[in-house]
Amino acid sequence: MATTETALVACMYILWVTGINCKHDHPVATYFGRVHPNGTIVDARNPANKLKFSPPKPTTLDPRASLKVSPSSEIGNGEEVNVLWSGVTFPSDKDVVILYCPPDAEFDHYLDYVNVSSIETYTKGYGEFDVRLWNLRKECQFRYYRIGNHTMLIAESNVVTFEGGTEIPLQGHLSLTGDPMEMRVMWVSGSMDTPIVQYGTDLSAMSVVRGNNSKTYTAADMCNAPANEENAFVDPGFIHDVLLTNLKPGTLYYYSYGSAKIMSPLRHFNASPPVGSANKFTALVYGDMGVSPIPRAYKTAEYATDEAMNGTAAFVFHNGDISYARGFAYIWEQWHAVIEPYATILPYMVGIGNHEQDHLKGGTKDPSGAPGEGFHPWWAPGFGSDSGGECGVPMYYRFHMPDNGNGVWWYSFDYGSVHFMMMSTEHNFTQGSRQYEWMEQDLKNVNHSLTPWVVIAGHRAMYTSQKQLDDYIISLGMQEAFESLLYKYKVDLAIWAHYHSYERTCPVYLRQCTPGAPVHIVVGTAGKSVDLEDYFPMSWSLYHENNYGYGRLTQANRSALHWEWVENTSGFVKDHLWLTK
Ligand SMILES: *[C@@H]1O[C@H](CO)[C@@H](O)[C@H](O)[C@H]1NC(C)=O
Ligand SMILES: *[C@@H]1O[C@H](CO)[C@@H](O)[C@H](O)[C@H]1NC(C)=O
Ligand SMILES: *[C@@H]1O[C@H](CO)[C@@H](O)[C@H](O)[C@H]1NC(C)=O
Ligand SMILES: *[C@@H]1O[C@H](CO)[C@@H](O)[C@H](O)[C@H]1NC(C)=O
Ligand SMILES: *[C@@H]1O[C@H](CO)[C@@H](O)[C@H](O)[C@H]1NC(C)=O
Ligand SMILES: *[C@@H]1O[C@H](CO)[C@@H](O)[C@H](O)[C@H]1NC(C)=O
Ligand SMILES: *[C@@H]1O[C@H](CO)[C@@H](O)[C@H](O)[C@H]1NC(C)=O
Ligand SMILES: *[C@@H]1O[C@H](CO)[C@@H](O)[C@H](O)[C@H]1NC(C)=O
Ligand SMILES: *[C@@H]1O[C@H](CO)[C@@H](O)[C@H](O)[C@H]1NC(C)=O
Repeated sequence: MATTETALVACMYILWVTGINCKHDHPVATYFGRVHPNGTIVDARNPANKLKFSPPKPTTLDPRASLKVSPSSEIGNGEEVNVLWSGVTFPSDKDVVILYCPPDAEFDHYLDYVNVSSIETYTKGYGEFDVRLWNLRKECQFRYYRIGNHTMLIAESNVVTFEGGTEIPLQGHLSLTGDPMEMRVMWVSGSMDTPIVQYGTDLSAMSVVRGNNSKTYTAADMCNAPANEENAFVDPGFIHDVLLTNLKPGTLYYYSYGSAKIMSPLRHFNASPPVGSANKFTALVYGDMGVSPIPRAYKTAEYATDEAMNGTAAFVFHNGDISYARGFAYIWEQWHAVIEPYATILPYMVGIGNHEQDHLKGGTKDPSGAPGEGFHPWWAPGFGSDSGGECGVPMYYRFHMPDNGNGVWWYSFDYGSVHFMMMSTEHNFTQGSRQYEWMEQDLKNVNHSLTPWVVIAGHRAMYTSQKQLDDYIISLGMQEAFESLLYKYKVDLAIWAHYHSYERTCPVYLRQCTPGAPVHIVVGTAGKSVDLEDYFPMSWSLYHENNYGYGRLTQANRSALHWEWVENTSGFVKDHLWLTK
């Protein structure tokens, strides 16, 4: 180990003096996803972008001013509304229109605002803008304020109500349990009423199952700021988790979920094939999604929804950096709305990323059970506080992965003739660690006559040649820690993300192309942004591209796997590979 450590330090030094990039931070979008006039995303974390105002003087309404939202009743989750003001006397560039949910929220407990001076006509006392609103299980209202030495309330809008109010089941998603006879249905509502799922293969004979596992979490459950702060936290409602059992493998089921008061629309899914099945299926694979302004993540979701509706995909495998909420909880709600159209048809399997897990404070609240403040090895720069204080808490509550490892952090399942493993690069993966021991046991237990293929995924990359210093060092550390495990237990494909780019290697072991070794893929291309750095010339790197896109992993039969990378704009498969045995 000592020699390796020395090598890593040396490598770090060489990379520093050559001035290679380190991975940069990404802004946190505001609720409206505002952009600066120069086109960059307004960062909700920057104090300069927050309103600084004193409590408003009572009764200062401008009697001639009006503020109107339309439509305002029964609007859908994520629907666009128009906000129009007029008749404002003495408009000023200190005027702002602010969104409050609920309508009686304190003046400084707002979701987002629009500076009226960003709309040309404001000097004439009127103007309008369009924004999208999400159902946070509360009604909403806009207020027009003048922020000077004294804050004045100029006008209040009509109240906005959402379709289905607080009771409507939202954020639906399915997940696999590892047993092909089971399917898990999860959703969110503001109601503690008994959760119900109706399901069956025949619409005229549906079974009903009642859930007994509904949870919620509070700001106090988070590790640190901003996740535990009043202005970033949003009450997540109740997260319902209902298990369907005794399903017929490979069969089409109809279902809906909700409560006695209100049910979701009718949906459908295919129960998993029996383990060992040779039948064709495709998993959609990607990392680093977020909710960056249209189209980006929305484009990935559009392709995935197409695949789900067309019946060309079986499940989603999203290996970390999920919503990029980083403590700003409205982003979780927005992201769930993006995936809902396909996550209610395809089981949505997730892994943890640095932006969900990493923290430097409050570690006793980390639900993964990691000791201290989690994994911060001395040789690796870049394991910091990227979760914005969330430390895995929203992931732990929002998703329920197979229970054979450590929750959403590490687990495995068989699908057809493939054994899939998700591991956490944000937890100790070195020899002797709890995770390493589990991984070794899991790989040892694979029955290769039942599942001849083994695919492992995690967030940070074990092989990458893109010029980003800190994560390049981490890739070397990952190789040192568990590359031999993958080689020894005949892993066919290792899929990573974290880099917002696409890369594929030859079958590689110890940085040499080696027949029989795993092929490594980096597919952090689902929408957050694109990394533009160049690549080191490495003999093991066979294809790379700085662009958006998503992966498709198809089991053609028991002896052939097909990997494809679909580029975003064209929808064309820009890179692909057949693996056969
Ligand atoms: C864009 O404008 C914002 C706000 O004025 C500023 O903070 C940011 O640095 C600018 N970015 C670029 C790339 O010019
Ligand atoms: C609104 O924008 C104007 C012009 O950029 C600026 O002077 C003013 O301070 C802003 N107001 C607020 C409340 O941010
Ligand atoms: C606002 O307060 C500052 C500092 O107290 C003062 O100099 C300024 O004149 C005040 N402006 C108005 C419009 O009252
Ligand atoms: C909750 O539901 C599960 C699955 O239906 C069942 O096995 C379990 O016994 C139930 N627990 C309670 C406390 O009712
Ligand atoms: C889904 O089917 C439609 C209509 O046949 C087709 O245009 C589209 O390309 C398909 N999408 C995918 C992702 O296969
Ligand atoms: C990882 O686990 C090993 C084995 O328990 C331990 O020796 C090492 O200190 C841990 N590393 C970190 C960075 O926590
Ligand atoms: C592995 O799977 C094969 C085929 O299903 C089965 O016959 C065999 O018993 C399994 N081996 C073990 C050790 O479970
Ligand atoms: C595809 O990605 C490129 C950046 O590489 C971007 O310019 C383009 O807008 C994206 N297209 C879509 C449809 O998302
Ligand atoms: C498996 O699929 C591949 C690719 O479609 C095909 O070439 C091969 O003949 C198939 N093998 C069997 C045993 O069906």
